[in-house]
Order: sequence, then structure tokens, then C-alpha cells
Amino acid sequence: MAENLMDKIVSLCKRRGFIFPSSEIYGGLSNTWDYGPYGVELKNNVKRAWWKSVVYEREDIFGMDAAILMHPKVWEASGHVASFIDEYKDCLHCKKRIKADDPRWNPKRPNWCPECGHDGVGLTDRRQFNLMLKTTLGALEVGGVEAYLRPETAQGMFINFLNILDSKHPKLPFGLAQIGKAFRNEVTPGNFTFRTREFEQMEIEYFVRPKDADKKLEEWIEYRFNWYINLGLKKENLRKRPHGKDELAHYAQACTDIEYNFPFAWSELEGIANRADFDLKQHAKISGKDLQYFDDAAKEKFYPYIIEPSGGVDRSVLAFLADAYNEEKVKDETRVVLKLHKDLAPTKVAVFPLLRNRPEIVELARIISADLKKCFVSVYDDTGAIGKLYRRQDEVGTPYCVTVDVQSLEDKQVTVRERDTMLQERLGIDRLKEYLQNKLYCS
Ligand code: GAP
Repeated sequence: MAENLMDKIVSLCKRRGFIFPSSEIYGGLSNTWDYGPYGVELKNNVKRAWWKSVVYEREDIFGMDAAILMHPKVWEASGHVASFIDEYKDCLHCKKRIKADDPRWNPKRPNWCPECGHDGVGLTDRRQFNLMLKTTLGALEVGGVEAYLRPETAQGMFINFLNILDSKHPKLPFGLAQIGKAFRNEVTPGNFTFRTREFEQMEIEYFVRPKDADKKLEEWIEYRFNWYINLGLKKENLRKRPHGKDELAHYAQACTDIEYNFPFAWSELEGIANRADFDLKQHAKISGKDLQYFDDAAKEKFYPYIIEPSGGVDRSVLAFLADAYNEEKVKDETRVVLKLHKDLAPTKVAVFPLLRNRPEIVELARIISADLKKCFVSVYDDTGAIGKLYRRQDEVGTPYCVTVDVQSLEDKQVTVRERDTMLQERLGIDRLKEYLQNKLYCS
């Protein structure tokens, strides 16, 4: 059932223009995806909602946008060159690559493969893979500078810590927020957009006094958990999972994942870590710059601790799609409806003429649509019968549809239909904008 849901989501994404396999006309490039017209809107809405929640609605966080390419020493300091490594074994029978720390391994059966169950053909030794993608800067193939595509956006914020202190003069606790692409040479990508080599992160680096770190970590776990709930994810599909000591990243003292019940398994949506003073100390050591915070009142210098809520844009989009996907019986038909939160819906309003062969109705519908476009992401559509037009909008999650009919020409009213309840109400055209404004932005 769950696997089936995943297939349905992948199919809807392709059919309706959310997400396409990348480079498809060349046979595709495995595990890379392109966001189409609805996908880019949904993705932008997720990012906008995040930015609003962590930057605009708070006084203590500043936004920024650092370069993807950074000095190679950044990755030496961050520990990624030495430690951003995954270990795998390959099964010589099924040829699958399995993480060396996969909990399914059986120490009593060293030749048993947890993927195919074969015992005896054998496995390769543990092999190490560094997950960073390398590139060469400079036009010359030989003699260029080797650099990395960032595997996390976080480092761009740590290396700007001094710039923020000097330009904003913030008092602890304060944070930086950034959204951007990250790249990892994942050895086992898969599950649609869940694990890819190119993806987007939404990260906060929140600087706190060391003594406050545990409390702030808990606060951020709650804050971020509620963000997903407030944007419509079902509570029963979300959980918090604290990391065991043996699974912490090389920089983390503690970490809790927010996991989502994806159709394929419960998996990480976001990690919220206490990175302690690891990053600032490391960058101070390698760069030779003093990256301590000076507390004016106490007249003391120290390295703040860092609480890091780090989420994936693509994983959030996938979770919102999976959670919103519904099939409902309506009379003899099945309607597919994406019950996306109104803030996330790619299109907010669709306008239709009931009869497309009546020029006066078409003209009025076009006028209404053009007017709504000034305030809302809206579309005009007259390419089918009304039932079909409704279904089309349901499938892409449009919260409101407005229909102009013969009577509209007389009484200057239209029918507004709500996506989830399918309830319809008649409304004066002069009140339409205010009505939608209230429904979409104020409720
Ligand atoms: N700065 C900390 C950090 O990068 P992470 O747990 O490795 O932590 C944070 O990544 C988030 O980025 C994850 O929770 C996930 O949502 C997203 N992410 C990580 N690797 C990904 C991948 N290969 N494909 C898609 N999203 C990924």
C-alpha cells in the first residue's frame, strides 16, 4: 500500500508537472530530478514558509546566502576531508552496496547479505568513500585549484561569523539562516527525491552560551517539529528520534532527528544538533583568526556553542506531497486531491467559464482572472468541461476555484468552490478579492 503510494506520487509529479527525471531525453541521469512548473512553486513556498518562520517572525536570526564554492581549507577545518566518509561492503551475489554500519548485519554470519539473504558467495571488505564532490577552479585542466561543492550550507555561516559580529553587533543568543544547494556523492541514492547527490538544505546556526546549549537544543526541536505540524503534516506521521552516541556526526555532541513516516520507511526529515564549539574553534585554528564572542557585560571572551536545525527542502517537499495525497470516492468516480496547506499550494485560485462557447462568459472570467493575478498566484482555464477542470485543480492542490456562469452576467456573482470540502458558495465579484485574501492569508 505504502509502496503503491510512492508510485502514485512519482506518477502524479511527472504527469502534472511537479517533478521530472532529469536529462530524460538522454535516457536520464540516475537520481537527479528537475522541478517543473508546480514543483518549483511548491518548493519555493516551502522555502518561503521556512524563511518567514525562522527569519521574519523572529528578532534573533539573520538571513544570508554564502557561496557554494569555498576555500578548500574550509573543509579541512570542518573535518569533512578526514571524516565525511561512509564505509560500505558489496555483496558479490546481488551486487548491492550496503552500509558497513547497517543494523541488519549479523556478526555471527560474516558472509550473509542482508539484502538478498545469500550466505557463502561472499562480501567485499569494508571500503571507504568520501562523500564530497570535487571540482577544479580555473580554465586550465592542469594546474587548476581543486575545490569542493559544499556538502552542507552550514560552513558558509561559520566562516562569516566575524562579518556578522562586525556588521550586526548581535547579542547572544542569535542565529544565521540560509537556504541553498548542497552536494554529496551519495553511494546509495534513491527513493525519488529523498536521497540525491544534489539537493537543497534549510539550515540555521544558532549561537548560544555553552551553559544554555541543552535548553536551546530542546527549544529548537519543538520549534521545528511544530513548523511541520502547522504546515499540515499529520502528527502521527512525525516523530523525534534522539541519536545514539555511536551515530553522531563527527562535529556533534547531541542530535535529534525529526523523522517522517515516508511511504518507504520512517526516515530523517531534519536533524537538530548541538555542534558545541567544534566549528568556531576549528576555523579559528586553521584560519588563525580570533572567532570568539566578546561578552561586554561580563568582559569575557569565549566560543559560543552552536545549535543547528538542518532540514532538507527536497525531503520536506516529498513529505508534504505524501501527506497531502488523498483519493476520495465522489459518486462513481475517484478524485485525487492534494490537500496541501494553503501556504504551500502552488496555485491559490483557478478561474473557469462554465460555458466556453459563450464569449461574454469567457470575457468576464478572463477579466476576473487578470484582476486576481495581481494579488494571488492564479490561473485561467477553459480547456475542458467543468468537472474535469475541478479534478485537474484538485490534483495539484489549488484551494479555490471560481466559476463564472450565465447568471454571473446578470447578478455579478460567481461560484467559489473549496478544494477539501467541495462546498460551493455564491459571492459578489466585488467581494471576491477580499474573500480570498481572508481565506488565503488571514485564516
Ligand atoms: N549541517 C548538518 C547537515 O548537513 P545532515 O543530517 O547531513 O546534516 C541535513 O543533513 C538535512 O539535509 C537532512 O536532514 C536531509 O533533510 C537533507 N539531506 C541530507 N542529505 C541529503 C541527500 N543526499 N538528499 C536529499 N536531502 C538530503
